[in-house]
Amino acid sequence: METNEKEIMATTSDFLPLLGTDYIELWVGNAKQAAHYYKTAFGFQSLAYAGPETGVKDRTSYVLVQNKMKLVLTSPLHSTSEIAEHHKKHGDGVKVLALWVDDAYDAFEQTTKRGAKAYLEPRTLTDEQGEVRMSGIHTYGEVVHLFIERKNYNGAFMPGFKKWESTYNPSPVGLLYVDHCVGNVGWNQMNPWVKFYEEVMGFKNILSFDDNDISTEYSALMSKVMSNGNGYVKFPINEPAEGKRKSQVEEYLEFYEGEGTQHVAIATNDIVATVKELMARGVEFLKVPNTYYDDLLDRVGPIEEDLGPLSELGILVDRDDEGYLLQLFTKPVEDRPTMFYEIIQRKGAKSFGKGNFKALFEAIEREQELRGNL
Ligand code: FE2
Repeated sequence: METNEKEIMATTSDFLPLLGTDYIELWVGNAKQAAHYYKTAFGFQSLAYAGPETGVKDRTSYVLVQNKMKLVLTSPLHSTSEIAEHHKKHGDGVKVLALWVDDAYDAFEQTTKRGAKAYLEPRTLTDEQGEVRMSGIHTYGEVVHLFIERKNYNGAFMPGFKKWESTYNPSPVGLLYVDHCVGNVGWNQMNPWVKFYEEVMGFKNILSFDDNDISTEYSALMSKVMSNGNGYVKFPINEPAEGKRKSQVEEYLEFYEGEGTQHVAIATNDIVATVKELMARGVEFLKVPNTYYDDLLDRVGPIEEDLGPLSELGILVDRDDEGYLLQLFTKPVEDRPTMFYEIIQRKGAKSFGKGNFKALFEAIEREQELRGNL
């Protein structure tokens, strides 16, 4: 890296302090049914609701929570709205990656003056529980970042929502918080978005993978991991790379009809228990061949977990200089082969499972082939 670049990053790294991910909002075709799925299959709990009953006329939103992770599912109530247009084009997908800040007005000022395109002018929402201040900017595709400041709020979620009491409460599965969210962008668009996160949001590029790291016979991609200053928020950015046939990122771009969020990784402290429970509840995962486990310990060294349950569930392991991690990826959770989830347990490792890319991408290609999209 050039000195000049280092200096710029040093002077700009603290202008957007983030406390973490506040929530992730998906715009979906049927939020009521999606909420049931996330409760039943992923163990999320009912938290809050907004819709006609709370004075919101054009949409319904269901807020779900599990430990520190909040998920908002929103559907349009009419065909003529931004949400309906979004769903028609993309199917179900992530619209909002909301970031928790101390000052939503300043976050807007700092990012827009560095070139961010405004999505939501700063505003203060109030009810009898206090106030939430928020603002928002655009990022890749039609995804937006909302900055949420809630230090003076005691309600369930935010003004406009009421507490959602449900008689149906499946138990949690041990999902803790959002570890990282990955964006898929178009050909030659990775570096412009890396620059956006560096210059507009003060993030740093902490890891890079080129097509030599991440290429199988067919499915090549390139990726750069962007992290905010304290490491609480990490956004890897993928773009397709030339391979023999269609990259998995290309398949996503084609079916999502544009750039968007590819996967959300959720942390657990006990991946064996979490994945066992998710599978029992019908969540489908990518499966690597059992030969993956034959020489696993030679590749990653000693681990605390028994190999039996890992291979039975298909859990992947990788190691870096600081420790190891265990991870597993769901199949896409919509009919379009677009967004999916990763379940991750970190045991010191701060990386993203590069050692698993080949086995994993071959598993993805087998799925692409079944869809006729390879
Ligand atoms: Fe990931």
